[in-house]
Amino acid sequence: MEKVRIGIVGSKFAADFHCDSYSRNEHAELVAVAAIDNLEGISSKWNIPHTYESYQKMFEREDIDLISVCVPNFLHHQVVMAAAKAGKNVVCEKPLATTVAHAREMIRACEELGVKLMYAEDWCFAPALRRVDALVAEGGIGRLLYVKAKECHNGSHSQFAKKRATCGGGSFIHLGIHPIGYLLYLLGRGNNPVVEVTGRMNQGSEHNFVHHDFEGEDFGVGILRFQNGEFGLVEGNYITVGGMDDKVEIYGSEGVLKIDLTFGSPIQCYSRPGISYSIEKTDHNLGWTKPAVDEFYNLGYVEELRYFVDCVRNDEQPFYGVNGQAGLACIELVEAFYQSNETGQAVRGSWL
Ligand SMILES: NC(=O)c1ccc[n+]([C@@H]2O[C@H](COP(=O)([O-])OP(=O)(O)OC[C@H]3O[C@@H](n4cnc5c(N)ncnc54)[C@H](O)[C@@H]3O)[C@@H](O)[C@H]2O)c1
Repeated sequence: MEKVRIGIVGSKFAADFHCDSYSRNEHAELVAVAAIDNLEGISSKWNIPHTYESYQKMFEREDIDLISVCVPNFLHHQVVMAAAKAGKNVVCEKPLATTVAHAREMIRACEELGVKLMYAEDWCFAPALRRVDALVAEGGIGRLLYVKAKECHNGSHSQFAKKRATCGGGSFIHLGIHPIGYLLYLLGRGNNPVVEVTGRMNQGSEHNFVHHDFEGEDFGVGILRFQNGEFGLVEGNYITVGGMDDKVEIYGSEGVLKIDLTFGSPIQCYSRPGISYSIEKTDHNLGWTKPAVDEFYNLGYVEELRYFVDCVRNDEQPFYGVNGQAGLACIELVEAFYQSNETGQAVRGSWL
């Protein structure tokens, strides 16, 4: 297959970085987009020839090989199910679903209908974390013992993130899902299950630190123990001002790695009038900032979507970390963390 023909569902934030990534890929062709708003904006920005108000209608097109699901979390299930029934391969944004039952149903449907389900955990493709993979693989820090990882910012831009029903929870599912997915990839590796989790969050709305208009928590932290003994600490909160803060620390028996995914730019800028943009989720860009060189590339989106296009071109299944199984394990873990927070107890199980 020379070119993989793409249909995007959604038209805003995530759809934009999917379009950006596909447009950099000589093996991808943007064919159509379906959404309930901003169709003119996205189609003219990325030169997408066909637009639809109904994704079901778009799925009737025979000239689409791959669907990118860039809609709010609660819609992932219905859109993936419809894509599978239409015989389309599918990339699903995080989290895979808002419930474990939905995630399982999506995996089963894609398997039965013979389409690929690719779970968009971009951290697995962030260039800095790819380099880390190589350093770990050569034994540079010895045996992995403890990994601390977080994604935090000042609150989602999406209205759908504010309601439990449309988000699946609060900051922990919405942001914490990245470090959870990354730890599964790095430490779980498809054969080292998480066996115990402890979660602590605030309770949403009036119980939140800052975001009383969010039904879900605006602060969440979790501790994981893997079967081989490693510990993990994951964090996802909306109380972090000053720009999106994605950091990973990896402690090994012979060394340590510290990774700054979002503030690691080689550019330091001081501006009296302020610049138009530096990194995601800053309130303003006056004075000292660290403008990203290529934010979408640094976060992994570009290489992630290149890999998924190649999976379709070469008829290969995605690796553990970005397959349905890993997406499901993330949701199972989020539910276990929420349960632990409710009961005040550690939750034991086997999640992979
Ligand atoms: N991987 C990442 O780092 C990352 C970053 C941002 C968002 N996301 C994920 O991407 C998804 C979308 O988030 P967003 O920030 O773009 O949200 P958004 O609120 O900015 O946009 C939502 C989009 O969904 C569309 N939509 C809503 N209902 C629809 C329907 N019934 N049919 C078709 N389209 C519909 C809207 O038209 C809109 O374009 C979420 O699941 C989010 O978790 C992932």
